[in-house]
Amino acid sequence: MHACYSLVKMCSPGEETTTMHPTPHDTIRAVSWADDALQLLDQRKLPAEHITLTFTEPGSVAQAITDMVVRGAPAIGITAAYGVVLAARQRYLQDGAGWRSSIGQDLDRLAASRPTAVNLFWALERMRRAIAGLKSDPVAALLAEAKRIHEEDIAANHRMGKLGAALIDHDSAVLTHCNTGSLATGGYGTALGVIRSAYQAGRITQVYADETRPWLQGARLTAWELVQDKIPVTLLADGAGAHLMKQGRVRWLIVGADRIAANGDAANKIGTYHAAVAARYHGVRVMVVAPTSTIDMTLPDGGQIPIEIRPEEEVLSLAGQRIAPPGVRAWNPSFDVTPAELIDAIVTEKGVVLSPNPARMAALMG
Ligand code: MRU
Repeated sequence: MHACYSLVKMCSPGEETTTMHPTPHDTIRAVSWADDALQLLDQRKLPAEHITLTFTEPGSVAQAITDMVVRGAPAIGITAAYGVVLAARQRYLQDGAGWRSSIGQDLDRLAASRPTAVNLFWALERMRRAIAGLKSDPVAALLAEAKRIHEEDIAANHRMGKLGAALIDHDSAVLTHCNTGSLATGGYGTALGVIRSAYQAGRITQVYADETRPWLQGARLTAWELVQDKIPVTLLADGAGAHLMKQGRVRWLIVGADRIAANGDAANKIGTYHAAVAARYHGVRVMVVAPTSTIDMTLPDGGQIPIEIRPEEEVLSLAGQRIAPPGVRAWNPSFDVTPAELIDAIVTEKGVVLSPNPARMAALMG
């Protein structure tokens, strides 16, 4: 364990300022507000095509979240917050003073877009509280709140980047799963933010990224982000992770999370649990990096986390091409839960929890 860290290391916020604008080793933004509309980089098309879609009404924002135009827990929450701004604008124009009750259905529609990432519900709750405090024209105030959620996420990522990097020895190689970078967040990234910070500090010299079937977030998105930022990345098939660990090539498995329960169990992209089991067997340490907006203290353990089951077609096909024979069925859980006992460190913007358990999580969350 790193000498500077107690089992729960609390931090004071605001030690650094961050902006919506990319910094070194951080050149990508997937979610933005421009021209009075929400702009989303279409992540389904990356890396081959760079298409930005414009959204002016909340129903299509909810559909874009379901359809994976935007994905990654914090990015989903930020997108939904901007979706509430669009809903308020539409409802205020249509219903005048009645907007406050009619907007409820838009919030429900956004909440139904994906079930696992708790950041979605956390962001909608913040927007709901902002709505409750409003007296007149809602748009400017709600836009300010959505932008705050967005900026706070980027600041949290930079903070976590520093805290997580400090746990990593110099000249290390690490394995990561799925995409947890600028594309999955307001910017900079959670696990990928730690990787960016650690690369800049000379602590990481090589990143291994697995493909992450069926959506290939590792192959298409993580590899693309790291290549853009000139960080050395080697891609491997999902099943190659244990063999990589057995060869002693990596010291850490560094991943994000979609929801962390009160005991430290962490839901993340399907395959994380598998990789964490292999990591423990091979003495590779496991770091989960997530802002406190990903922690759901209402759930005592990971058994209660709702796991999204996505369409069979996503497994039966690859890049729109059917690969499985007719007649075969598929099972497509999008997330799994890594038990806290397999996690060496949970890194948040409020501090680091080593060997998480209910008491340490409660101490972090105060
Ligand atoms: O299905 P996705 O692509 O939304 O899943 C994303 C993940 O599982 C990420 O690891 C998680 O959201 C953390 S992103 C900072």
